[in-house]
Amino acid sequence: MSTLVVVGIQWGDEGKGKVVDLLAQEADVIVRFQGGNNAGHTLVVGGQKTIVRLIPSGVLHAGKVCVIGNGVVVDPQVLVEEIDTLQQQGCLSDASLLRISETAHLIMPYHKAIDLARERLRGEGRIGTTGRGIGPTYEDKMARVGIRFVDLLDEEVFRDKLSHNLQEKNIYLGSILKEQALDFQQIFDAYCRLRDRLAPYVMNASRYLHEEISRGRKVLFEGAQGTMLDVDHGTYPFVTSSNTVAGAVCTGAGIAPQFIHNVIGISKTYTTRVGSGPFPTELFGPEGEKLRRDGGEFGTVTGRPRRCGWFDAVVARTAARVNGLTSLALTKIDVLSGLPTLRICTGYEYNGRHYDEVPPSVQVLERLTPVYEELPGWSERLTELRSLDALPVNARRYVERIEQLVGVSVKMISVGAGREETILIRPAFF
Ligand code: IMP
Repeated sequence: MSTLVVVGIQWGDEGKGKVVDLLAQEADVIVRFQGGNNAGHTLVVGGQKTIVRLIPSGVLHAGKVCVIGNGVVVDPQVLVEEIDTLQQQGCLSDASLLRISETAHLIMPYHKAIDLARERLRGEGRIGTTGRGIGPTYEDKMARVGIRFVDLLDEEVFRDKLSHNLQEKNIYLGSILKEQALDFQQIFDAYCRLRDRLAPYVMNASRYLHEEISRGRKVLFEGAQGTMLDVDHGTYPFVTSSNTVAGAVCTGAGIAPQFIHNVIGISKTYTTRVGSGPFPTELFGPEGEKLRRDGGEFGTVTGRPRRCGWFDAVVARTAARVNGLTSLALTKIDVLSGLPTLRICTGYEYNGRHYDEVPPSVQVLERLTPVYEELPGWSERLTELRSLDALPVNARRYVERIEQLVGVSVKMISVGAGREETILIRPAFF
């Protein structure tokens, strides 16, 4: 009996998609447990690039079962488009390879309209959301007015809930946000068509996973976003609206805590962030520009340029504790080649106080001074390397220093986007 949770330990975009795709070879079932199509994982297999937003990144492996857990918020239109694209590529040929929790909540057109309109009105104070309706959908879930797959499957229940919600949302959209009202019939008809496409996949995913884990199948839980975007443990309010930490697997997939066995944290060897919010090690000069250019640091969902900075061991250390990391995977070390000197942030200073973990106050985070340690860089190209010993000595020292500062051992280092461009240090993950 074995499970593995994969979480991002920065602000998302750590390269989880590639790592999950790789680890999926060892797994039987791959599960998403939070977030929605605000995530976008880029997979490169045999030179072909595929972006998945909702379906777990393990989907490119034949015969693996992919599960969308109850903690995910699902835009059914996006999901149908994703299924169509993947099927054209020969994936998901059998309906039993995709399972959607009957209690996952649906992103509705009014959620997207509210998300976009609020961001517009916030102006300078905007969160920089992906505009996919994620926050408003989770709000409705907590306010107990959300619409779940089980509700969509019952036409009368769906009609009632939609009609009730739309009355309220149209008043809010019109009077407060100054937006157009949305049409009931249009939404109802579109969602009934989507229901017909998705119904074959909908099931009790919590029970299915319990049974699969109990009978010894290997289950991989794929986190979206990163620990610093967690609604409780991240840089609130510049966060997403779900819990992104490993503990969210229990609630977001409906499995018991004793079923979580291994947790691998994914981190870039530097740091990036999209959207607004504090970023203590952000670089504004040519070094940041180099990371953005060589790392191709542009959002997979929105195309926005990512903010880039040095590796922050304070962030990683906080995430290691909150997630209970049992190992680390470092990504994009190839991007650092050519920088003569590298910096790692080991702590923060603010108002005479030293911080070894991320403080909760955005005001402190925006004003603190990062404490840096300098390490010599390397100029060699790393993408063809497949073993730790083959790395230039300064690259090895950089990795070892990260391990020391975070207190977790590195099991995998990614040296390029392709599945094979990976150094596996300790191969067994489950
Ligand atoms: P939301 O999740 O669309 O509400 O956006 C809230 C914040 O999370 C924004 O700063 C987004 O840029 C960020 N965010 C959401 N999803 C991702 C992701 O997959 N990668 C990186 N940042 C994300």
